[in-house]
Parts: sequence; structure tokens; C-alpha cells
Amino acid sequence: MTRTFAVIGDPIEHSLSPSIHNAAFKALNLDCTYIAYRIPRGELKEGIESLRQIKISGFNVTIPYKIEMMQYLDESSPECKMIGATNTVSNENGRFIGYNTDMDGFLEPIKKRNIGISGEDVLVLGSGGAARAIVAGFAKEKAKKITVANRTIQKAQELSKFASDLGAESDHVALSGIDVSKYKFIINATSVGLKNEPSPIPTDMINSSHVVYDIIYMPMNTDLITQSKKNSATIIYGYEMLLGQATLAFQIWHKTPAPYDTMKKVLLGGF
Ligand SMILES: NC(=O)c1ccc[n+]([C@@H]2O[C@H](COP(=O)([O-])OP(=O)(O)OC[C@H]3O[C@@H](n4cnc5c(N)ncnc54)[C@H](OP(=O)(O)O)[C@@H]3O)[C@@H](O)[C@H]2O)c1
Repeated sequence: MTRTFAVIGDPIEHSLSPSIHNAAFKALNLDCTYIAYRIPRGELKEGIESLRQIKISGFNVTIPYKIEMMQYLDESSPECKMIGATNTVSNENGRFIGYNTDMDGFLEPIKKRNIGISGEDVLVLGSGGAARAIVAGFAKEKAKKITVANRTIQKAQELSKFASDLGAESDHVALSGIDVSKYKFIINATSVGLKNEPSPIPTDMINSSHVVYDIIYMPMNTDLITQSKKNSATIIYGYEMLLGQATLAFQIWHKTPAPYDTMKKVLLGGF
């Protein structure tokens, strides 16, 4: 019987996940399908019930449901509990088990480049759901200090407290007037750049000692990335995190390594 997978969210029509996963099914000859399923805001409970009824094999969760979905899980992984959000659910004999592959999906491209995190200073721009998974990742990898900057300062303060609660040294600063020279890693986890806006921070002090990682994947070359590249920083693209979380979700569901190159090709072709 064909196994069905989905990504839920609202809006969902622009999600690249169906293309990525369906290409992987084809490459590995798996009798599976993956659909985008819009659950209108305020209707998550009913939406989840319908997924149970059709015996969905697994699904990804995106904006705005990553936190709310936690209450509909029968069980959750340690990462999921730590971050307080889920992006991947597996249906195991009728039980919905929650995972969070955003954190390790984010870390994967850093590890792939053999860039050490332990003992390094990190600047995270943004304090939304994605920033939370990123902060948890840097805390897990024993960054020296995690500085959080955000437009709404109170949220930066809360995220910094979250980092401290995970055992990391952390502080928070305003988004304006940041001195980037102090940090090895500069991460953009705000949505600034999605509409080709100028970088959320000045880029003139960015240099070859920096690792600049913009998690926005469309456009691929945000202003922050373009300017940092000109200044010879090490660049990590948002699509790499997207692929990282997708391949880890694939492995949870299918218990086999994901065809990374196939998934990357279809993703880059989608831009
Ligand atoms: N590559 C990937 O796999 C991946 C995964 C997840 C998310 N993302 C991307 O990451 C971004 C953030 O996602 P999210 O889920 O964390 O969203 P979110 O929870 O809505 O958080 C958005 C963040 O952006 C900030 N922001 C929004 N507009 C701003 C502006 N004009 N100036 C300064 N800051 C602004 C918000 O600051 P305030 O707190 O002040 O509102 C908040 O910190 C999105 O662009 C998303 O596409 C990528």
C-alpha cells in the first residue's frame, strides 16, 4: 500500500518539501507520496484528526504550528522537548511521535565543513521559532557565548534566558549598533531578506574570519550573503539547512539514508 506523507502549515502552497521528498521516493523506488496540506489557522486539532483517520505515515510541521503541534503528540524526542517545538512527526502504530530535525539540520552544513563550534562566540539575529532551534544547537555544541539580537528586545532577552537554561553563556543586544568583530558565527534567523531587503546588520566589518550563515533560502543570495561573500567570509546558505532537516526527517521515516544529491538537485532546480 502506498504510504502517504505531508507537510502541514498555513500558508503552505510555496513549500518545497513535496518536491524534495517525492524526488527522493522516485530515486529510491519507494511506494510513497508526499503532499502539502494546508490546515487553516485555528483548525489544527481537526486537521490532525483527519491525518490520523487517513493513517498518514508521517508529516512535517511548519509555520505557524511547530509549537502548537506539541500538544497533539503521543510522545516526543529529547530534542523536541528541549526546543519546545516539533517539525517532524512519525506515525508509529497509530502513535504520533514528534521529533525536531531543525536543530541538527542547521548544524549539519557547519559540521560538513569541519568548522568547530566549541569555544567560539556566536551572534544569532532573530528570536522566532527557527532562532530557538539554532540557539539550542549552539548550546549543545558548547559555543563559548551566544549573543541574541532582535528587533523586539524582550524576545531577545527571553531567547537568551533559554540559552542560559540550556547551560550556555548568553547575552542579548539590540539589532542596531552591533559590533560583529567579536563573533566567529553570524547567523541570520530573522525574516529580513525574504523580500530582498538590505542586510539586517551592517556588513562592512565582516571579513574572512567570519562564518556567515543566512537561513533564508529564497532568495538564495540575500544581501547579507552577497556582501559577506565580497568580504571573503565563509558562507553557508539557507537551502543547506532546509536539506539538512529534510534528509534527517527522511531517515526517521524510512530508516535508510536519504538521497542527498537527488534532493539537493531538485531543490536548487526549484529556485
Ligand atoms: N532554511 C531553513 O530550513 C529554514 C527553517 C526555518 C525558517 N527559515 C527562515 O527563517 C526565517 C525566520 O523563521 P521563523 O520560523 O523563526 O519565523 P518567526 O518565528 O516569524 O520569526 C521571525 C523573526 O524575524 C524578525 N523580523 C521580522 N521582520 C523583521 C524586520 N522587518 N526587522 C527586523 N527583524 C524582523 C522577528 O523579529 P520580532 O521578534 O521583532 O518580530 C523574528 O525574530 C524565515 O525567513 C524562514 O523562511 C528557514
